[in-house]
Amino acid sequence: MKTLPLGEVPHDVGVLPEKMLACTIRPDREGDPGTAMRIEEVCLPPVGPNEALVLVMAAGVNFNGVWAARGKPVSVFRMHGEPFHIAGSDASGIVWKVGDQVKRWKVGDEVVIHCNQSCGQCPECNGLDPMACSEQKIWGYETSWGSFAQFTKVQAQQLLKKPQKLGWLEAASYGLTYFTAYRMLVHQAEVTAGDHVLVWGAAGGLGVFAIQICKMLGANPIAVIGGKDKAQLVQSLGAPMWIDRSEFPNLAYKPPESPESARARAEDCKKFGKRIRELTAGKDVDIVFEHVGQQTFPTSVFVAKRFGKIVICGATTGFDLSFDVRHLWMRQKQILGSHFCNAYQAERANQLVHEGKIRPVLDQVFPFGDTAKAHALMAANQHKGKIGIAIQCAAAAGALPLAADQAA
Ligand SMILES: NC(=O)c1ccc[n+]([C@@H]2O[C@H](COP(=O)([O-])OP(=O)(O)OC[C@H]3O[C@@H](n4cnc5c(N)ncnc54)[C@H](OP(=O)(O)O)[C@@H]3O)[C@@H](O)[C@H]2O)c1
Repeated sequence: MKTLPLGEVPHDVGVLPEKMLACTIRPDREGDPGTAMRIEEVCLPPVGPNEALVLVMAAGVNFNGVWAARGKPVSVFRMHGEPFHIAGSDASGIVWKVGDQVKRWKVGDEVVIHCNQSCGQCPECNGLDPMACSEQKIWGYETSWGSFAQFTKVQAQQLLKKPQKLGWLEAASYGLTYFTAYRMLVHQAEVTAGDHVLVWGAAGGLGVFAIQICKMLGANPIAVIGGKDKAQLVQSLGAPMWIDRSEFPNLAYKPPESPESARARAEDCKKFGKRIRELTAGKDVDIVFEHVGQQTFPTSVFVAKRFGKIVICGATTGFDLSFDVRHLWMRQKQILGSHFCNAYQAERANQLVHEGKIRPVLDQVFPFGDTAKAHALMAANQHKGKIGIAIQCAAAAGALPLAADQAA
């Protein structure tokens, strides 16, 4: 058997084909996802003693696939020595082969995968936090052999039990963004009941989970959305308070700024703060959930309350941040960096999905052949929540009927 047919689970569990289909990026075609990502046949990767090979039933699309395709701000080929890059940091699947040191998992187990890899041997891995390991990497971004392929290679510690109630596509959709939002809010910002939390991109991949986490913990999310068509979704997830950022056309910081545009932005920033206080009966926000970066960061620092926190994990609009630092020191605010999460946090967060307390928000699904198209949609901000790719599970294309209470 050369490669497996797509869209089905082979009867011979654990039997490996000679080759697999993979959606690859190669150094000579880095650029827009639509052209950078192509399906080709490649050999299966070797599996180390503490590793597992997983048959990918479905994969989830994340923004890091867009960064990987673009090769900017950093080419993934500077991060690993493989001749091609298989992106994809979310998957659901079936364990197909395990290394001889793997004790907790066996061939046939149904799993989802968290995307943090680390050495497992250093003091940081064994006492502080694997996120502090000097070899810490995000699987499918800083490593190759990610989830946009028929098989993926992972460290065994990345495996988590698949929630039985979820289909393969839903199960593949939530890990990276939900676990990131969980660490940001629960561990870094330490959100508590009663807090007001401003959530940028509230209908996006991180945002849909930030809202749910806030609601679960008794905090009050204020959802920022780019268009009223997303209001029903964020309300259904637990954010009755929302702001349409398109009503503040000068809010985004876009350098270089003329004195006039700086004044217009300062005006919109004040109006934005006023709108927050109208919604919260006069309260400023305790926490700002940031990942948009350059365009929103000055506003985030401005609107956080005295002693408030800005927790940030990304910078979609640019990583070169500029803001008026007087707002930070005079009002003693804190900026907290956060990056994915460790295995224990992923396990705890995943348990909440098993218990039905947090749910995936799958907006659209595509067959494997449309992986590049799905990334192009994400790059163009033409999605809500998450996008799924069917690989060994039956393929279905197009917009999913979001649950009635989520539909816009
Ligand atoms: N470090 C980590 O571990 C980690 C983990 C996950 C993600 N990230 C990063 O975080 C970022 C977001 O990821 P995601 O999965 O949530 O992406 P996403 O699904 O594309 O959602 C991002 C949201 O940001 C909003 N947005 C886009 N441009 C904006 C602008 N100019 N001003 C205000 N809002 C804007 C959009 O919402 P509206 O248009 O509705 O406002 C969009 O839905 C990416 O850069 C990603 O690489 C980092």
